[in-house]
Amino acid sequence: MHDRRDRRDLPVGTASPAALDHHETALWHLVSFYGDPIAAFDATIAADPGWGLARVAKAVFLLTLTEPAMLPQAHELLAQAEPLMRSAPAHERGHFEAAQAAAAGRWREACARWDALLHAQPRDLLALTAAHLFDFYRGDARNLRQCVARVLPEWPIDDPLQPYVLGMHAFGLEECNLYPQAEAAGREALARDPRGPWAIHAVAHVMEMQGRFDDGAAWLADDRTGGSAGWADNGLAVHLWWHLALFHLEALDSTSALALFDARISGAASSVNLQWLDGAALLWRLQLLGVDVGARWHALAGAWADPVAHAGHYAFNDVHALLALLGSGDHARAAALVEASANHARDDNLAMTNEVGLPLMRGLMAYASGDAAGACRLLYPLRTVAHHFGGSHAQRDLIDQTLLAAAAASNTALGRALLNERRLAKPATPLTDHWAGRIGSQRAP
Ligand SMILES: [Fe+2]
Repeated sequence: MHDRRDRRDLPVGTASPAALDHHETALWHLVSFYGDPIAAFDATIAADPGWGLARVAKAVFLLTLTEPAMLPQAHELLAQAEPLMRSAPAHERGHFEAAQAAAAGRWREACARWDALLHAQPRDLLALTAAHLFDFYRGDARNLRQCVARVLPEWPIDDPLQPYVLGMHAFGLEECNLYPQAEAAGREALARDPRGPWAIHAVAHVMEMQGRFDDGAAWLADDRTGGSAGWADNGLAVHLWWHLALFHLEALDSTSALALFDARISGAASSVNLQWLDGAALLWRLQLLGVDVGARWHALAGAWADPVAHAGHYAFNDVHALLALLGSGDHARAAALVEASANHARDDNLAMTNEVGLPLMRGLMAYASGDAAGACRLLYPLRTVAHHFGGSHAQRDLIDQTLLAAAAASNTALGRALLNERRLAKPATPLTDHWAGRIGSQRAP
């Protein structure tokens, strides 16, 4: 009955060529982070109001932002789509069910449903992008790599979006600690399309994990994308600037890191949780190094859209909002945030909150209140499970750096042990030497 297909041979529930064109444009925005996909999603819906998948796709995009303020709109889109799905192809009904699961906070189920859709249609870019982002939010490094690997060979090289799929694979390889393979995949993707921010990002992660701070700074300053930092107008730009700031921090160049915060991360540059959290993570690391960040904490905490009211949607975001409140000295709201995070967490986020979010927040609060020994006691056991609440190795390194600072004040034996780990990964960086100096642990002769 349904024999209509899009340009990747997926069965589609629309007969409108205009709707399909707009949908393809939206997918490009979605996978590349360039431009705003909302206009393309809306144009798709307008071109064929009866095409349920168009509303589902927009809802999925909103959900991938992990933004509580977007949830009502996502639910409304799915409610509008529901009656339209009865006559939709089975594949599109599968998308609707996956989106419903994601909207209800059942992220693991949603990923399983998108994965199943990809078994049948390996070039389903909506399913792949959604699965990849939610695998990231769930800290599922194995699927971050292998869900993409299961489809990558089925993407022809002449598909203009194939390099973006390869970029996803590069990031999955990196999060599985397969650094040489990740860098090769990222560079291959960029050789085909130099604009791919996810591939640029994956290679930057490799350099971060290997302590190659000079390489990393040069990599992100490179104008390979057609002009100085051609990704500057990209949705991933704040995060890439954050990575550049990390390379500056690894070199102990806090002046450059602060300048990046001021010019590229703070203020109007950031407008959603995923951006504010990078700012908070950067200021926290600077403060761990003893840098006076001035009034920046207050500005960041003031810009953050009511983190206490929104707590409980995603533990990873809650932890970073807590940093902003602690940094600005608002311990009363910090305590309220922890309570709200505990009270409002549901479904998959409840497990993330209980296992990682809450103990991590308590450890950070202990550190902020001057209880270095308590911070060590609370934070150290989390290192083996922290990936369960998502984020990247580089983002979760904030836990280790907080532990190093706490250990320097209270437990130099633990600090020395952590430094031994760090030296194997990042043997000769000024930041590693900084921690060694504070802990009193010099490199063995
Ligand atoms: Fe990153």
